[in-house]
Amino acid sequence: MTNRITVPFGTISIPERSKELIRNILETKRVSCGKHVRSFEEKFAALLGVKEAVAVSSGSDADTLALAVLYDYGAKRGDEVIIPALSFVATGNAVLNAGFIPVFVDIERDTLNIDPSRIEIVITKKTRAIMPVHIMGKPAKMDEIMDIAKRHKLHVIEDAAEAHGAFYKGRPAGTLADMGAFSLYVAHIITTGEGGIVVTNNEDYAEILRSLRSHGRACKCRECSLNLASKYCQKRFQGDNGEDIRFIFERIGYSSKMNELEAAIGLGNIEIYKEILDKRRRNLLYVLDRFKRFRPYLKTIKEDDGEQIGPHAIPIIIQEGALFSRAEFTNYLEKHGVETRTLFASMPTQCSGFAYLGYKAGQFPCAEYAGKHGLHIGVHQDLGLEEMGYVLNTIGKFLELYQK
Ligand SMILES: Cc1ncc(COP(=O)(O)O)c(C=O)c1O
Repeated sequence: MTNRITVPFGTISIPERSKELIRNILETKRVSCGKHVRSFEEKFAALLGVKEAVAVSSGSDADTLALAVLYDYGAKRGDEVIIPALSFVATGNAVLNAGFIPVFVDIERDTLNIDPSRIEIVITKKTRAIMPVHIMGKPAKMDEIMDIAKRHKLHVIEDAAEAHGAFYKGRPAGTLADMGAFSLYVAHIITTGEGGIVVTNNEDYAEILRSLRSHGRACKCRECSLNLASKYCQKRFQGDNGEDIRFIFERIGYSSKMNELEAAIGLGNIEIYKEILDKRRRNLLYVLDRFKRFRPYLKTIKEDDGEQIGPHAIPIIIQEGALFSRAEFTNYLEKHGVETRTLFASMPTQCSGFAYLGYKAGQFPCAEYAGKHGLHIGVHQDLGLEEMGYVLNTIGKFLELYQK
């Protein structure tokens, strides 16, 4: 065995620039959502080439609030939103937290993403949206999904939580539909510690999102987040009889603003984004290129023509016929310094919170298989090819123990 190396699952970069900004924010005592959040939103939007970005307090809230925008467009509480059966549980939680009912569709075994050929079967009169997830940064089949949505007049919101740096046919994941929701949690490529952001080219959606993140206020233009006590927005006292519109609540809202300290971490991260992305991509491609040797027992995803996988993490699915369990595999990796995470689960049939929806085990065979036999490992910027080589060697040594 090669010398033991430690391969942690995740990391966080906090550049000097972030520390400087945080010191200033603390000095000026303006910590709640203000000009740094606005600046982060502008930079994030520019990075993706979209008109608008609205920062919120988590990726889960980014999903939830993006869905809640649909109430301004005729959706009713209790309407349905189609999502993949396999995702981080936040996707399903967000649909419920927004007041909709999740309707699950199985994934494809190869891509681990929603299977577009199964979407139309579950569309009903109550369906309002499809929310594909680009799981592990691999873009979902957006052309097919957008085509179905167009035919059935549905909205599409991308859960792009794991898809920073992913491209589909030349366009960034997250910008391919009505809205894209990103997580900025530490495990993600651009992070604010905790946080999320919704991107869109629709300025009306962005206004509604700004209202939703602040209790449903009528006060929702960009300036309102600038937090300048002395310079009120022109619109402030323009409600009926000169009422302050900041205290008019137009919709059911959330308390979900990002704060200035989080934005400062994000601003520093955006400055080194390219560097982080390149390192992660190098790590990811190094492993994907060499993974074939573990067939037929282990499989990962591959980068298909016309796409670029966002280097979030590497999924591994233990295949039928392997003589070892997931627990044996992950215990071995952990014992040899390689941190692992399980690859989520089939929300409707393997996460007990969703049991009341009435789905039965066996309804989502591909998601359930991945839920039982999947794991993922890190490719982050503090790792290099030495660590990636060590991961591959460690997996190879483990498989040798189980050669038939
Ligand atoms: C697919 C997916 N959706 C949503 C989320 C929620 O993000 P957060 O943890 O920032 O709430 C995550 C988290 O990593 C995720 O992986």
